[in-house]
Amino acid sequence: MKLKERVRQFIRHNSIILFFRLLADAVLEAYSQSRHLGASRMMHDEVKFAADLCIRTHAIEKGMSIGSVRVGFGQPKVLSLIDDLLIYVSRFPSAQIDESMAVIERYIAFNCHNGCNVEQVASRYEQLKKAYAMRENIEAGIASCNRAETLQAANASFDLFSQSRYSIRDFDQQGVIDENDIIAAIDIARKAPSACNRQPACAHIYKGKKAHELFDFQGGCNGFGQDMPYAILVTADMRRYFINERHQMYVDGGLFAMELLLSLHYKGVATIPLTTAYKTMRTRLLKKRFGIAANEVPIMIIGVGAYKESYKVAVSHRNPVASYYKMHD
Ligand SMILES: Cc1cc2nc3c(=O)[nH]c(=O)nc-3n(C[C@H](O)[C@H](O)[C@H](O)COP(=O)(O)O)c2cc1C
Repeated sequence: MKLKERVRQFIRHNSIILFFRLLADAVLEAYSQSRHLGASRMMHDEVKFAADLCIRTHAIEKGMSIGSVRVGFGQPKVLSLIDDLLIYVSRFPSAQIDESMAVIERYIAFNCHNGCNVEQVASRYEQLKKAYAMRENIEAGIASCNRAETLQAANASFDLFSQSRYSIRDFDQQGVIDENDIIAAIDIARKAPSACNRQPACAHIYKGKKAHELFDFQGGCNGFGQDMPYAILVTADMRRYFINERHQMYVDGGLFAMELLLSLHYKGVATIPLTTAYKTMRTRLLKKRFGIAANEVPIMIIGVGAYKESYKVAVSHRNPVASYYKMHD
């Protein structure tokens, strides 16, 4: 090998040099993210502010979709959401908050229906109604689904099949899952594409007590984690990527995770994707506690359980199709 080539190889594969090259890239990325992530100057940017309101609205909506929901939950959070919606509409007059308002309305109705007095929320909501003219007939809150129809949808055309998948928070506590269905779903999900066919994903399957420990650690499934007998932690292997691909494993791992969600849905298993978006130290702890190798990155956890005969779901309203694309001529 010529000297020039040897130097090139050394620079390329030396881990100390790689560290500094990555650091430079990470600094540039931190610069961009410090300006553009929602966390930066959130209340001065319509989109960032809206994202925060969307997360808080959805927390209320999904709270109502939990099987063993505690009636009257979250009143302080709803009150503070209303306060911030008032600030939002006063600061951004063209803003739309119909979905948030519809969820709050369903929240009030849901609690009244279950005999819980949420008068303070109701009267604060009246103020919001005066400040913003809400559109009618917004789909929001919870919807009822039926197991037989859901299973039937597995054989429907793709548009109907994919529309029938929901994140489930209302599981059959006595339901039994056939492990073969999980393996069969992983088998189907292997068809997920990955950059240069690198296939970095691994599904770590945890059962019973270990699954519940993982749900407790995850923290986003309080109130229904105990009703799911399996947890699947999808990871992607960093070793298959190179310097300009620092985030590619999240794309490839995410595609596999989505395909796995649909495959499990196809096998008639109820699922919920659960975030593993943590800061580095917590990610390290997750890996240590749950037997994940240092070279793997967590993509998401999939909670797995059984459908009830009849179950409820959070509607999770989708934005209009026009907001999902831009044509470039
Ligand atoms: C990466 C990811 C992380 C999620 N994390 C959570 C979570 O921690 N807790 C939860 O209840 N839902 C979680 N969800 C579910 C979302 O709330 C749900 O996908 C969204 O509202 C759309 O609803 P749908 O899945 O029913 O269509 C997560 C979804 C994704 C894709």
